[in-house]
Amino acid sequence: MKIYLIGYMGSGKSTLGRALAQKQQLRFIDFDEYLEEKEGQSIATIFKEKGEIYFRKRESHYLDELLDLEEEAVISLGGGTPCYGDAMQRIKAAPGTSVYINVPVTELSSRLWSQREHRPVLNHQDTPEKLEEFVRKHLFERSFYYNQADLILRTQDQTPEDSLKA
Ligand code: S3P
Repeated sequence: MKIYLIGYMGSGKSTLGRALAQKQQLRFIDFDEYLEEKEGQSIATIFKEKGEIYFRKRESHYLDELLDLEEEAVISLGGGTPCYGDAMQRIKAAPGTSVYINVPVTELSSRLWSQREHRPVLNHQDTPEKLEEFVRKHLFERSFYYNQADLILRTQDQTPEDSLKA
């Protein structure tokens, strides 16, 4: 079994993925950590020193590596991973199941406000209102890709931890 968790930043992909993998006794791979380890740099530093275009190219490369991996695993992808080029088509064509963790914009924005400093895509948003406006538009654009997942899990305003118990 191979499961790809997709969704916006802050949707709980890693928390849910880790719990699911543990329950199913499967390997868990956090895509961001995988990429950082392979590149030998944090994502924040890659964005700062090499720029987003470089990051997206490397992201696409490592996605292929993970899609080709024969081992069973639960893989939480980066928020933008399915949204560039033909990545979502490649995910759907690979063996496994993709699951979109759909969380309302207001909930995402409130979770992300305290984490924005570490997130290069969001760190220009300097008020909670601006952040929410940005997330609303960005999620609208990205939903086109996310909604192509095999399954959609709506977690509403629960924390990822609460939705594990639901
Ligand atoms: C990004 C999401 C991040 C990380 C990078 C870019 C995005 O992953 O890949 O900062 O474009 O949405 P998480 O969704 O795991 O935070």
